[in-house]
Amino acid sequence: MSEKTKEVNPRGRDGKKIVLSGIRATGNLHLGNYYGALSKFVRMQDDYDCRYFVADLHALTTHPDPKMLHENVKQILAEYLAAGLDPDKNTIYVQSDVPEISEMYLLMNMHVGIGELMRTASFKDKARKALGITSGKPAGEEGSVEDENDDEGIEKQIIGNQTNQRVNAGLLTYPTLMAVDILIHHADFVPVGKDQEQHLELTRRFARRFNSFYKTDYFGEPVNFNFGGHAVKVPGLDGSGKMGKSEGNCIYLIDDEKTLRKKVMRAVTDEGPKTPNQEVSEPIKNLFTLMELVSTPDTLEHFKNAYADCSIRYGDLKKQLAEDILKTTLPIRDRILDIRDNDEYLSRVVRQGQERAREAAAKTLREVREIMGIKHF
Ligand code: TYM
Repeated sequence: MSEKTKEVNPRGRDGKKIVLSGIRATGNLHLGNYYGALSKFVRMQDDYDCRYFVADLHALTTHPDPKMLHENVKQILAEYLAAGLDPDKNTIYVQSDVPEISEMYLLMNMHVGIGELMRTASFKDKARKALGITSGKPAGEEGSVEDENDDEGIEKQIIGNQTNQRVNAGLLTYPTLMAVDILIHHADFVPVGKDQEQHLELTRRFARRFNSFYKTDYFGEPVNFNFGGHAVKVPGLDGSGKMGKSEGNCIYLIDDEKTLRKKVMRAVTDEGPKTPNQEVSEPIKNLFTLMELVSTPDTLEHFKNAYADCSIRYGDLKKQLAEDILKTTLPIRDRILDIRDNDEYLSRVVRQGQERAREAAAKTLREVREIMGIKHF
């Protein structure tokens, strides 16, 4: 899918293309969230009509402590603003503040198959975790939604376990809600990390299905946005897989200097290269991937050369990596601490965002109801 869709979006502010993305309210943001999503949000804010939200309804699928949910929403909002999102340029809102999303979620579910939902990698992953099943592909390793025969055992286990309430229906219909978040704004671009691309593929599929069922071209087909590059998967420091909260391998934007250095210095490595130009092992590849995101090309080149001629010292590599991560995260951390307890400011930002988001969402919902044949007397 190309980032070059139609030239203007008549629904966007000043005819600009529309950008929509969100992050679940499940705790502090980590480098995966930052490089996979938030840093792109910030870079896009001057050129597009951007709408960024905190996904608190999606967070409910994993049953957060009610006392923590609001704190988590505030935290993400503070992190958005601290990373540089300007509330006057962007529409910044909380998902549950826009009830039109919930109604359209109900309507859209009429056109979504439970089979395709059960085959979604993120569902299988979360269902596996809820049921304590350890086999299967790790999150972020999934293929396309077309891989329909992949890993079918989990579907049978979930259906077979009829009294099981740990795998809830909200988890199953998670992609419908995400598609609605996107389609209700007629978004052109959805900046997300690699792990969300399958959800985006489903969004396009639901949009096409709606259009074809009602013989309309009402919805467009949104795509990821990576400034011409590839979607990123930020690795963890534990030698495998992606950085993620449930993986317990995160560097957070809010980490203080000492904590952050400690985490980086503890990163998994190997026993070091033995022969020149030896293939790079997974844990070291991960450190290079992180370095590619935070360091200068010269720094990365230096350590890659040192690996190739076997002179590399992992202690030096980690020290440099920690230094370069801190250059990005420390100023953000200071601003988060400043903003997050400023309830008055945060509430002003979300009230303004809610108003703008509801205006757009209400229009789409009205049109969708009409297309589907729901009419007022
Ligand atoms: P969430 O909250 O899990 O993650 C938020 C964003 O961070 C990215 N991300 C990563 N990117 C690269 N490497 C990583 N290790 C990494 N970990 C997380 C995710 O790709 C995502 O962009 N379903 C979404 C939230 C959502 C949404 C939406 C997004 C709900 N509705 C509509 C876009 C549009 C989610 O769970 O993201």
